[in-house]
Amino acid sequence: MKNGKIGYAVVGLGVGMAHVQAAAESKKCELVAVCDLIQAKLDKVKDAYPGTKTYLDFDEVLKDTEIDIVSICLPSAMHADFAVKAMEAGKNVLVEKPIDITVEAAERIEEARVRTGMKAGVIHQNRNNAVMKPIKEAVDAGRLGKMVLASFAVKWYRDAHYYIGWHGTWEMDGGGSLMNQAVHTVDLMQWLMGDVASIHSTMGIYDHDIETEDMTASVITFKSGAAATFVSTTCAYPGISTDIQLYGTGGTIEADADILKRWKLRDADDEDEEEEEMLEKYGGGNRAVEKADPTVITGHKSMVENMIEAVIEDKDPQILPTEAIKSVRIVNAIYESARTGKTIYFD
Ligand SMILES: NC(=O)c1ccc[n+]([C@@H]2O[C@H](COP(=O)([O-])OP(=O)(O)OC[C@H]3O[C@@H](n4cnc5c(N)ncnc54)[C@H](O)[C@@H]3O)[C@@H](O)[C@H]2O)c1
Repeated sequence: MKNGKIGYAVVGLGVGMAHVQAAAESKKCELVAVCDLIQAKLDKVKDAYPGTKTYLDFDEVLKDTEIDIVSICLPSAMHADFAVKAMEAGKNVLVEKPIDITVEAAERIEEARVRTGMKAGVIHQNRNNAVMKPIKEAVDAGRLGKMVLASFAVKWYRDAHYYIGWHGTWEMDGGGSLMNQAVHTVDLMQWLMGDVASIHSTMGIYDHDIETEDMTASVITFKSGAAATFVSTTCAYPGISTDIQLYGTGGTIEADADILKRWKLRDADDEDEEEEEMLEKYGGGNRAVEKADPTVITGHKSMVENMIEAVIEDKDPQILPTEAIKSVRIVNAIYESARTGKTIYFD
């Protein structure tokens, strides 16, 4: 605690800067410290937030008694080691996506959470895109009827420069366009569609000098009986869309990331009027919704705030390790199917 508030620290200052900003702006915590191996990154935070302590060694974070929560924003394969160490030192953790690159590593985080009694949350901030709330509610209320088909397509672009370093390595990234970029959408898929029954996939490297894939394509069936296609790439120049498209006997919902594109539900009193209202509210994405209603919070800010509240109110954070493990299991099954040419069946 610092000044009577939850003390926050961030390790890893790439996307970790979004955590830094969210913690610095939160009224419920104090940004206590940041940690990175690169002094220039630490200096940048110190310039922006002069009261912040800077550490080159994670062990200093663990020893700092003012710190209650640590955001783990390190290369993906480092998440479990650092999260477990932090919980064993009495810190709560908020872990970036993917929770780690293997189910076994993710399970180590869950095991440590239960054993230490500390809190562990995982970042999948796209669940908090404003448009996802009505979509999830419509799905859960059965407004789409019997789910028939879904289509998820992460058509992004990354240039050669992006792949210098740990990105695109099996050891540290655990994959390419799927494990790193599309894992967000894998999480949304399993959240909306329920348990996976089977996966059949192909993958390849098309436009980058990397060891992992830059394209995957899968046919996925669900225990509900529905099917989906799921594609991911970092070759779609200049970066096209994140399609989330749901087709049920009760109607259709289509979005591109946080932007609603189509809302046609047969059970509406007036289908066209409902669609018009929904497009007006959610057709402009998160920024438009936040502008219209300042109580709506999206992105990293929403997840950092949720983690702080979980600690203050002694409740579970929004996404527990047991939930975040699901997308890692699916991603690795896609890779296994693509490598072996076999269909992977889930229990
Ligand atoms: N939620 C999102 O939208 C989102 C976006 C980007 C990245 N990520 C995830 O965040 C994680 C980090 O990705 P990134 O793109 O920020 O990577 P990055 O390489 O830009 O940043 C990682 C940082 O960790 C630091 N670091 C490495 N080893 C360290 C150690 N032992 N101690 C302290 N610092 C150390 C590096 O110096 C670097 O500054 C990944 O798991 C990635 O998947 C999430």
